[in-house]
Order: sequence, then structure tokens, then C-alpha cells
Amino acid sequence: MFAFELWREYRLSVAELFSLFPKMEVVYFDEKILLVNNIEENELLKIAPKIWWTIKINKIQSAIRDSGSSPEWQSTIFEYMKDFFQERKTNYAINFYWKVKTNQKDFLLKSKKYFAKLWLSTRFVNQDFNNIKSYLVTKEKLIDTQTDFNIIFINSEIFIWNTIYVQDIESYAKRDFGKTRDMQIGMLPPKLAQMMINLSKNETMLSSWTIVKDPLNNASITKQSSRDSSLHSEWQNQFNNSYTQLPIYDPFCGLWTILLEAIIAWDNEIYGSDINEDMVQTTKKNIEFIKDIFENDLKTYEVINLDAKNIANWPILKNHMIWAIVTEWYLWEIFWKLSINLEKVEKQRIILAQIYEKFFFWLKRIWFTWNIIISFPFWEIKWKYNYFEEIYEIINEYCVISKFFPDNFEVQSSRSWSLLYKRPDQTVWREIFRLQIK
Ligand SMILES: C[S@@+](CC[C@H](N)C(=O)[O-])C[C@H]1O[C@@H](n2cnc3c(N)ncnc32)[C@H](O)[C@@H]1O
Repeated sequence: MFAFELWREYRLSVAELFSLFPKMEVVYFDEKILLVNNIEENELLKIAPKIWWTIKINKIQSAIRDSGSSPEWQSTIFEYMKDFFQERKTNYAINFYWKVKTNQKDFLLKSKKYFAKLWLSTRFVNQDFNNIKSYLVTKEKLIDTQTDFNIIFINSEIFIWNTIYVQDIESYAKRDFGKTRDMQIGMLPPKLAQMMINLSKNETMLSSWTIVKDPLNNASITKQSSRDSSLHSEWQNQFNNSYTQLPIYDPFCGLWTILLEAIIAWDNEIYGSDINEDMVQTTKKNIEFIKDIFENDLKTYEVINLDAKNIANWPILKNHMIWAIVTEWYLWEIFWKLSINLEKVEKQRIILAQIYEKFFFWLKRIWFTWNIIISFPFWEIKWKYNYFEEIYEIINEYCVISKFFPDNFEVQSSRSWSLLYKRPDQTVWREIFRLQIK
């Protein structure tokens, strides 16, 4: 059994995990923690560096059957921990998740005494008796010693687990692109871009395949499906093995946030287009930059100047060489709290809807059957939400919405099965959908 410590927007974290491990079984879930079964440890560790919305990954070695009411429960935990201490001095940390029945400071001090009595040389590294920050887990090498311990009470069991993976926070600093990243363009937060890439890699691709295989006796489609069937089995093999590395495309690529994150995530084939030639040139520079500072496996990439309204003109799409579209809306104008008003927003909605109407129309025409992960805006004006109504109509006409969570999972996304995201200082919300063309 594994435990994932989730980010602040925990629904996004869980959606990412369901996408990467569609067969996982949820044992327990709250806003901080997800306990799951049915994941292979080897596979998990291979994919771990690409699970961006999980803070820590933990392996549950043991669940102690005790409601915390018997006096021995603390020593049972200390006994469990002691087996991880070596002869040489070992650092450790104990983290509490909110369903814990004792004071963390007392518990840490008791543990220290307990181990001292056993002549074990140990030192807890929790600062101010609080849960330890991720970077400290790395600094104190607690993954190597398996001595970052975590505790939660669930019903009559105490789950205790050891951290086996922690996110590499430092790699975020490396993403500082300086001048070539202009906030006015409305860059997608890298973290969200990563998550959207992962949402595109899931099994619903399989169901979209059945749509392709239903060729309605149409000669040209039949030809496509015979071509695709070899690709499909290749894809299926890859999918069964682990994380899929299949070409993705961003048709509003701007500064390539999505595609740069795909390179960092070891994708080897990526495509982008944008209506603005400056963006096309800048993103080429960004690619060279990212290739230099991050290890990668990039073999093929192409970025062209293209109006997304004419998306069907690009042969790579017609020939079904793209396996997922991952993109965000075109931000006509960035609105800040003081500059936003209803009139401006409504104007923007109309322009955006015209682009998207054509965009989906052409995707349907060329039978684009793979996942489309797309983020649309809605606006907050004086504490009221102004929804992008036009886009819901367009989606209804051209797409099916693929859910992020299984039906029986108690936490659902929004009413329209989307995921919501907002940066604290912004007036625009992002609404993320996984779509397939009908
Ligand atoms: C908000 S930016 C995308 C930012 C990008 N996701 C990033 O993080 O770097 C939107 C981009 O869409 C492009 N754009 C606007 N209208 C377009 C159209 N009709 N076809 C293609 N690109 C378009 C703009 O030039 C702009 O670079």
C-alpha cells in the first residue's frame, strides 16, 4: 500500500494519480493524503519524478491495529521505527497528519527517550516539532535511511509509513527563463502544465481508439485505422509497461510552457504552433535553453506559425501523428483586479469562442480521436463568477467529456467534470477539461 501526500489543490493531485495509475484502488482519502493499493513499487518509482502534484510518496509497511486508546500504542510505533536505525547515528523525522491523537512535540520527545534507553544513536530533525519540509528530507538523506516516518489514525488503525520519494524542489529554480518569459503573455504555471501533460496520458485513449475503429464504411477512415492499428498496439505495449511517451501538440503554444515541461518529463516528440511569429522564434530559443540544462530525450520537434482556426492544414494532424493535444486558451488581455470589468470580459468571450468553434470543427472533420486536455478561462468580477457559456455549447456540440475520477470515487470534480485552478493574485480561473471529439 502507498500513501501520497497531496498539494493544496488536492483534486488536481488525485486526478493526476488516477491518470497515471488508472487501476489504483483508493483505501482512504482526505485533503492531504491518499492511500492506495494495486500499484507496483517498481513502476511507481520509475514514474515518481513525473508525478508533479504529489509532495511525498510513501510506502506503508505496517498498519498497527490500535485506536490509540491503549497505553501501548506509542511504544508499538517506536518498536516499528527502531528496526530502521543502524549502528551509526541515524537521523529521523516523525510527521503527523491531522487525524492524530497526541501532541507532536510530546511524541517526538518520548521517541527520543525511548531510543536512548535502547542505546540507539538517533536524532530527530523536525524543526520546531513540526512536520518536516520536503527539502530537509533530501538534505538529511532520510530517503536512504527510510527514516522519514508518517503517522495517521484511520478508524481503529494507526497507519505508519516511510517516505520513499520526495519531490525535487530545486529543479523548479532551474526553470527561471529570465527575459524570454514574459508574464504579459500569460504564461501557464509550469506545475499546471506538467499536470495537464499527465492527464493526457491515460487509458481513455483506448476508448477513443474504438471510435476510430468504427469506420462507418468510409474508405479514407478505413485506411487510417489500418495505419493506426500498428501504432495502437505499439502504444498499448508502452502503456502497459509504464508511462507513455507519445507525441503531444500545443496549438496555442505561446512560450512553450507545456512543451518545455514535456521535454523535462522525457517526452521525445513534441509539436507546437502559434499565430505569432515572435512567439515561434522565442520558443525555439527556450527549447535550446532547456535542452542544455535538463537531461532529456528529445528526438523530434517542430514549431510552426499557424492560426489554430486552420488547424486541419497541418499534415501532422491529418496523418494522425499526434496523440494528444495539451493546450490552454488564448488570453486576449490579462485582467487584474482593477482593470477587469464585465464589458471587457464579454468581448473577450466572443473572440475566443470564434477561435474555438473553428478549432473543434476542424478537429472533428479530421477525426482527431485522442485526448484533448484544454484549459478555458472563467472570470471573477467583484466576487461573482462570469462563466464562459459559449465554450460549454461548443464542447457539447463537438466533444465528449472524459471524467478525471471513477464514478464511485466520492470526491468529484466540478459539475461539468472539469478541474478548477486559480492563482491567488489573479481574477481569472482556469477550468481544465479532458475532451475527446464525438
Ligand atoms: C496565453 S498564450 C499561451 C501561453 C502558453 N500556454 C505559455 O504558457 O507559454 C496564447 C497564445 O495563443 C496565440 N494565439 C492567439 N490566437 C491564436 C490563433 N488563432 N491561433 C494560434 N495561436 C493563437 C498567441 O499568439 C499566444 O502566444
